[in-house]
Amino acid sequence: MNRGKQWFDDDKFWEEMYPFMFSPAKFSEAVTEIDQLLSLTGLSSPDVLDLCCGPGRCSIALAQRGCRVTGVDRTKFLLEKAQSRADETGADIEWVLADMRDFVRPEAFDLVISMFTSFGYFDDKQDDMKVLSRVYDSLRPGGIFLIDIMGKERLARVFQHTTSSRLEDGTRLVQIHDIADDWTRICNEWILIRGNRAKSFFFQHTLYSGQELKDRMEQAGFTGIKLCGGLDGSPYGPDSIRLIAAGKKP
Ligand SMILES: C[S@@+](CC[C@H](N)C(=O)[O-])C[C@H]1O[C@@H](n2cnc3c(N)ncnc32)[C@H](O)[C@@H]1O
Repeated sequence: MNRGKQWFDDDKFWEEMYPFMFSPAKFSEAVTEIDQLLSLTGLSSPDVLDLCCGPGRCSIALAQRGCRVTGVDRTKFLLEKAQSRADETGADIEWVLADMRDFVRPEAFDLVISMFTSFGYFDDKQDDMKVLSRVYDSLRPGGIFLIDIMGKERLARVFQHTTSSRLEDGTRLVQIHDIADDWTRICNEWILIRGNRAKSFFFQHTLYSGQELKDRMEQAGFTGIKLCGGLDGSPYGPDSIRLIAAGKKP
């Protein structure tokens, strides 16, 4: 499909950010997250689509719980990381290189997950609806779609224009954030500083409040949408760190 390039099409971004986004601790977290997620959805060993699976954190943890897993992602570099990690752990997973707006496999899955803020990337908000509709079609009746993002309510509470962190190897990451389009988008500049060299990456995504995400999912046909403040099933309240939305295909 012939589309204009957007920030997430820059493989260099994912390569450079890999050590910050996917630390060993982030991989370890996935094991608990997946146990919680399975208990929250009430599914024991579903056929799962891990949409925007990245380096396979969740896919591998799911496969280790006996699920049949398909991991979809548009970044070859990350899928290669996923494949080699799966090989190391003996996990048998199907990896598919595809854009989330395109991938569809009618009524093939009991559960679709979109983890660690992988939803809302597109300039055109209708593209988010396209993703919801592809997911809907890929689920079997009774199947569940679960989205994990940082909600707008949380961001409004903790928003800082600039933050900075350092990796063990001394690389510094400076993050600059701006709220745009009437609180519907966040625009970010991430600057990586190594020694006396600095490199900037710009990216932006849509901000959803709990209600806005719920409305979108309902528009796509999902029912019984439940919002939680974490995969532990806690209510979505003022202290929630994450926004989890789970809805059913009737
Ligand atoms: C923040 S990472 C999350 C990875 C994974 N879900 C996890 O929990 O570790 C976002 C992922 O979305 C993928 N991605 C970005 N845009 C995409 C698109 N249009 N279609 C498919 N995958 C996309 C990136 O390659 C990256 O792996």
